[in-house]
Amino acid sequence: IFLPERKNSAGLALVQASVRDGLQADIAKILKTPFSAGPIVNGTVTAGGDAAAISLSPHDHRDRIGTVRLAKPQHLEDAIFSAMNGAPRWERTDAAERARILEAAADLFERDRAVLMAALIREAGKTLEAAQSEVREAVDYLRYYAIEARRLFSDPIVLKGPTGEENTLSLRGRGVFACISPWNFPIAIFTGQVAAALAAGNAVIAKPAEQTPIAGFLVVKLLQEAGVPRDALHLVTGGGKLGEAIVKDARIQGVAFTGSNETAWAIQRALADRRGAIVPFIAETGGINAMIADSSALPEQVVRDAVRSAFDSAGQRCSAARVLFVQDDNAPRIRSMLAGAIEALDVGDPLDYATDIGPVIDETAQDALESHKVRMQREGREIIDLAMPEACRAGTYVTPSLYEIDRLSKLDHEVFGPILHMIRYERGHLDKVVAALNVTGHGLTLGLHSRIESVADYVAENARVGNLYVNRNQIGAVVGVQPFGGEGLSGTGPKAGGPNYLARFATERVRATDI
Ligand code: NAD
Ligand code: ALA
Repeated sequence: IFLPERKNSAGLALVQASVRDGLQADIAKILKTPFSAGPIVNGTVTAGGDAAAISLSPHDHRDRIGTVRLAKPQHLEDAIFSAMNGAPRWERTDAAERARILEAAADLFERDRAVLMAALIREAGKTLEAAQSEVREAVDYLRYYAIEARRLFSDPIVLKGPTGEENTLSLRGRGVFACISPWNFPIAIFTGQVAAALAAGNAVIAKPAEQTPIAGFLVVKLLQEAGVPRDALHLVTGGGKLGEAIVKDARIQGVAFTGSNETAWAIQRALADRRGAIVPFIAETGGINAMIADSSALPEQVVRDAVRSAFDSAGQRCSAARVLFVQDDNAPRIRSMLAGAIEALDVGDPLDYATDIGPVIDETAQDALESHKVRMQREGREIIDLAMPEACRAGTYVTPSLYEIDRLSKLDHEVFGPILHMIRYERGHLDKVVAALNVTGHGLTLGLHSRIESVADYVAENARVGNLYVNRNQIGAVVGVQPFGGEGLSGTGPKAGGPNYLARFATERVRATDI
């Protein structure tokens, strides 16, 4: 495997009060001026989109973050038309030059860290810490895919063989790629998809989630400032209907999507119904992720890692732990320690450094999570549910909670928020736990706490998951180090931030020359 010399983005030391205070002051200053965003077609921020949406902060609905103009059908048409023209030139641009532009963008992201974090904190409700991690992840994607572009796209591979001919294999951009992303990583995932498609030599139509267009807008502006040609990257703002129109267009030569299963199936259907080229569909979706702790696990470690895995980003990570399986002899201790740890979590304004749990994204999410709590009170046992702080009532907050349930089948869908479930299992029944997880058909992350090596080997061998984390938390995969993505219902692969990702955005060409 290719391991290039590289470093992940360092970020600022937020533990140091002086650094943190400076950054918070910058963010507060940035937030004094409302953002203004809209479609970016051929390098121009279109003024024409008449349907303007006011963006409100999930932390406090009285707080207007900015105004977003939505793309009209003509904006999409203009964007695809321009991208069709721009794609061949961008594809012929040296891979080294494409890589240089992505690296320049990474530097600009670090320069504008506070602006990007301000959008993440107020538009997506990310805490200060999570916002900084997300910007770092985006920077990592830019630099990693730049390295990968040089490796994969610079020179053709020469294939030696018995034919007496000179045979080469090269990777080339496919044309116009659609990148459709979710709200929960509106900068990291948005940037990752777009950077990969560009690195591979495609022009891009990027559609951020309807909840977080400002973040996507800022990213596209920075990429174009770094040198991505204006006809090679376009931003269209809108929701599911716009996404549907993009993927139905037969000029789109590939789709990178991250989001829910429902949407992935809808896109798959739309692509199948097109009468045009058969194109790659990269889909990364959700999971019903578990952490397993056997009786050899250290309770303090389990509690620390389960709390982080379940509640970081208010549980709005695809990787988050939804259910903790605990071997029964360890269960009473872990349950009461978990309740204590949850009680200590601070729910509040994500801009405050002390906050552990910010808001969930919107009222739809809040309602779904509150209904789930009501169902769990009926079908399980509530161990703890924190009281809602008064200051959080103006936003869409859901307090962290823990329920004990008797079987996994009670979690029949991905519960996308700060709710953890606990299930006890009997000694000798680990195989049944793994089998029950496999039966869900999801396969994103799995955490395991055990000090018995054969247990770890058994789980690694038998659990059908994309990312297994042993004796640690199960979130925050590091680009280039822990390539990320699921299998089965959780995604098609290849893994983001890994060495097999870029090739999926490309087409392969062979040249055989008689010598
Ligand atoms: P979503 O499916 O509702 O929306 C995702 C994107 O798809 C949005 O941009 C949306 O506008 C667009 N869209 C909606 N309908 C469409 C259609 N018919 N055609 C084309 N595009 C359409 O998902 P979400 O609520 O934004 O994101 C949360 C989900 O994403 C969770 O399930 C989470 O687990 C998953 N997720 C997965 C990963 C991963 O890497 N596996 C990472 C983050 C989030
Ligand atoms: N890549 C993100 C994580 O690992 C989703 O948490």
